[in-house]
Amino acid sequence: MLFHGTFVHTPKRGELVILTDTLLAVDETTGRIATLLPGIPRTQLEATIQTTQLQQHTLTLLSPTQFILPGFIDTHIHAPQITYAGTGTDVPLMVWLNLYAFPAEKKFKDVEWARYVYPKLVDRLLRNGTTTALYFGSLHLEANKVLANTTLNAGQRAFIGKVCIDQNSPDDYIESTENAVRDTEAFIQYCLSLGQRKEEGLLLTPVVTPRFLPTCSIPLLEQLGQLAKRYDVPIQSHISESLDEVAFVQQLYGSEISDTEIFDKTGLLTPRTVMAHGVHLNYQDTQTLAQRGTAVAVCPLSNAYFANGVFPSTRFSYIKQGLGTDIGGGYAPSMLSSIRHLITASRYLASTAAAAAAALHGAGADAGVDNSNNHAGVTAAAAAAADLEKGDIIMDWRTGLYMATRGGAECLQIQDQVGSFQVGMSFDAILVDVAVSGTPIDLFPGNDDRLEDYVEKFINLGDDRNITNVWVNGQNVLSLSR
Ligand code: GUN
Ligand code: FE
Repeated sequence: MLFHGTFVHTPKRGELVILTDTLLAVDETTGRIATLLPGIPRTQLEATIQTTQLQQHTLTLLSPTQFILPGFIDTHIHAPQITYAGTGTDVPLMVWLNLYAFPAEKKFKDVEWARYVYPKLVDRLLRNGTTTALYFGSLHLEANKVLANTTLNAGQRAFIGKVCIDQNSPDDYIESTENAVRDTEAFIQYCLSLGQRKEEGLLLTPVVTPRFLPTCSIPLLEQLGQLAKRYDVPIQSHISESLDEVAFVQQLYGSEISDTEIFDKTGLLTPRTVMAHGVHLNYQDTQTLAQRGTAVAVCPLSNAYFANGVFPSTRFSYIKQGLGTDIGGGYAPSMLSSIRHLITASRYLASTAAAAAAALHGAGADAGVDNSNNHAGVTAAAAAAADLEKGDIIMDWRTGLYMATRGGAECLQIQDQVGSFQVGMSFDAILVDVAVSGTPIDLFPGNDDRLEDYVEKFINLGDDRNITNVWVNGQNVLSLSR
C-alpha cells in the first residue's frame, strides 16, 4: 500500500505537524509504516517510486482536499451503554447508574443481545474514526467474549475489561468477590488465547476493571491488583469523578482518604492504569498519579453532566492524558465531539477563572497557587485563576487532536506503535476528505484555505461522512465511496 499526499499528526502536545507531498508505504504483512518521505512533489513521484523500489505497491493519490490523520483513540467507553446513548441525561451520576446504566448493562446476561448490539457499536466507532478503544464491558464473561470477538472480526484495536462489582449495586447486577476475580482471570486467559494467533494478539488486550470505589470492596480491589500484576495487563476504573461519588466514598471510608490513596494502597495505580474523569483530584493525588505513571481519561461531555466541574487539563499536564467519549455518560460516540467539548470546557473554565480572579483581587486576596486541596467550585476556580494569569487554561484544537491520538496512545503505552506517523509504527489511520458533499463543511474556493484550515474545519465542523477510509494495523477496516 502506497500513498502520496498530505499527512497530519501531533507528535507533541499542542504541536501540529503537516507533512505535505508525502510518500508513505505500508508493509502489508506487518501492517507497519515502511517508508515515510515528505516533500516529494508529484512531478518527482514516479522517479522516487523507482529509486525506492516501491513499484509493487498499489498507489493512492490523495486529492488537495484529502489528508490522512492517525486514527482516534477512545480511552473511556462503556460498550453496553451504547444502547441508550442520547437519553438519560437528566439526573446526577449516582441516580443515573441505578436508573439507566445498571438496567442497560444487565441485559448483556443474554449473549444474543451482545451479539446483536456489539457489531453495531464497533461499526459506529470505526465510522467515526476510532481505531482503538479502551472498553468497559459488562459483568458477564460470555458477553465480554462476544465484544472481544467482535472487535477482532471488525479489525479494531481493543482493550477490553470485564467490569467487576461486588457491593452497593442492585441484587441482579452484582457478583461475589470470588466470582469477579475468577471471571476476570478467565477473561484475561480467553483474550490471551486469542492473542496466540499473532496478528490478533496485536489488536486485543484484556484489562482489569474494577468499576469504581463505591461498588468494589477492598478485598476485591486488592485481588484485582494482584491479577493485573501477575498477568502484566492494564487496569482501568473511575476516579474522583463527581461530588456524589466522592461523598459516597467518604461515607464508606471517611474524608481523610482520597480515591487515589485507596487505589494506590490496593496496588491499582500502575503505568498501565487509565483512570476516567479525575475532576476532583487534589494536588497530592495528581502528584501520586504522575509518580505511578497512571493516566487520566478526560471525558468532557460526560463531565458536563455528572462531574460538577472541569478537569483542568493544562494545570495537570504532567499527568498522561487521553480523551474519552464515556458512552453513555457522554452521549456522542465520536472523538470529534470529545475534542470539541474539551476545547469549549477549557474556555468556560477560563471564564470562570477570570471571574474568580477578579473576585479574589477585589477581596485583596492572592490568586496565586492555592490548590493544595482543590475540590470543585470556588477553590478549583481560584486555582484556575492562577493558571489564567499564566495564560494557559484555554486549549486549542491542536491539543484536542493530540489528546485524541498520541495522548491516548501514551495512556495505553502504545505510543511506539500508534498515534502518530513514523517508520516502524503500525498504520492506524483515517482518510479525511473535507470536500465530501452533504456534510456540515462548506468550502469556498475564493477563500484560499490552507491545509491547516482544512484540518481545523474537519475538527470543528466535520463528521463521520468526511472519514472515507479507516485502517488498523495496515488493514482497511472501513472504506466508503463518496
Ligand atoms: N462510575 C461508575 N460507573 C460509571 C459509569 O458507567 N459511567 C460513569 N460516567 N461513571 C461511572
Ligand atoms: Fe465511565
